Amino acid sequence: MTRLTVVGAGYVGLVTVACMAELGHDVVAMDIDASKIGLLRDGGVPIYEPGLAESIAANRERIEFTTDPAYAYKSGNFVFVCVDTPPMPSGDADLSRIWQAIDNIPADEGTHVLIVKSTVPVGTGALVRAELAQRGHRHIRYASNPEFLREGTALEDFMHADRVVVGADDPGIAEQVAQLYQGIESPVLLTDVASAEMIKYACNAFLATKISFINEIANVCEATGADVTVVARGMGMDKRIGPHFLQAGIGYGGSCFPKDVSALKQIAGNSGYHFQLLNAVIEVNELQKRRVIGKLKRHLGDQLRGKRIALLGLSFKPNTDDIRQASSIILASRLLAEGAEVRGYDPLAMESMRTILPAMTYVPSATAALEGADACVLVTEWSEFLELDWALAKESMARPIVIDGRNALDAAALVDMGFVYDGVGTRVKLE
Ligand code: UDX
Repeated sequence: MTRLTVVGAGYVGLVTVACMAELGHDVVAMDIDASKIGLLRDGGVPIYEPGLAESIAANRERIEFTTDPAYAYKSGNFVFVCVDTPPMPSGDADLSRIWQAIDNIPADEGTHVLIVKSTVPVGTGALVRAELAQRGHRHIRYASNPEFLREGTALEDFMHADRVVVGADDPGIAEQVAQLYQGIESPVLLTDVASAEMIKYACNAFLATKISFINEIANVCEATGADVTVVARGMGMDKRIGPHFLQAGIGYGGSCFPKDVSALKQIAGNSGYHFQLLNAVIEVNELQKRRVIGKLKRHLGDQLRGKRIALLGLSFKPNTDDIRQASSIILASRLLAEGAEVRGYDPLAMESMRTILPAMTYVPSATAALEGADACVLVTEWSEFLELDWALAKESMARPIVIDGRNALDAAALVDMGFVYDGVGTRVKLE
């Protein structure tokens, strides 16, 4: 088996380390953050991802952790670059960590292949190769190998990928990188670097478009009496459309969709093309979060001042503590600005949320959030909310109003219990 280096022990890096070791490779994981490497050496894992700690532990004899870039670069013939590329205020991706990784390559590095997994703007590969050539790193070959990992199912997504995409301008190099995935039964697409870079953005932008599209259909359903859940089912039966990512709700969040849609818009703009569709995708997503305020006003009257609103779920999706770009942030801030008393609860995301929105009242359970509430908004569809004893909850609420922001609750059952139920584009509504 091959000896690999992974630069960046963040989310993508650690999943790559675990899965490549699982495939039998020896892996040296490098990060400049000494505390992170110290924790990993002691058997800890700095992020929460189901199965990750177990997989790293199970393959520990094939994994080495280091903070020394020179050692790391010398160890592996293949170097996966998995540093993060966060958005800058302009929406462009910040590539400083990529350049820092390049700066760290020792002069006498020998021959190896630099494989960029980080999501980078189309054209970055060409820039990096030019820079490497200028610095005299003539033995370094380059490949782009985007990841398509979802938080919560990242290991599964890696080991059972829909596809492995490898872009290299030398087909022999692309083939060598694809070989590293031997043991994974996934189709492999070998292509050029720019196309591989674009595939990543195009996928995330398309998925985000699908969500904004179904959210607009839901909004029109609300105005016309149709039911978006049935509409989505009917649409999904068309093989050309497919059933996935047609779940209407209060918008997408997370560390990828908002960042990548906005970066693709900038990539297009920077190269002189105005990507009109993406503007609408972004705007629909922004407005979708705010529509909840209008709904609450329809049920409670225009004055939300002094009204007690329960927010169930704060993370951007269930089974994660990640609140990046979560719909809950906009929603809670708007409600606080209206003078409402906002009581939030999340099984995992309370601590991180408290630091950015201290004005919200944080309560230790869903039941506590619902106590005395004038209305409740299901923001994130954690299973504990779906399994809640809603009949009991109703007794403790001031008014039995449920705004289901994810169309995840049993609407008919709630209406039977006497709740006022309001989903996103669903038909079961009001008393
Ligand atoms: C996403 C992509 O799925 C993954 O391929 C990429 O590599 C990283 O970004 P992730 O951010 O983990 O993964 O979340 P995902 O499960 O895709 O959900 C993203 C957001 O879309 C969530 O806020 C979710 O609530 C929302 N969503 C998803 C919808 O509103 N409706 C849907 O039908 C699907």
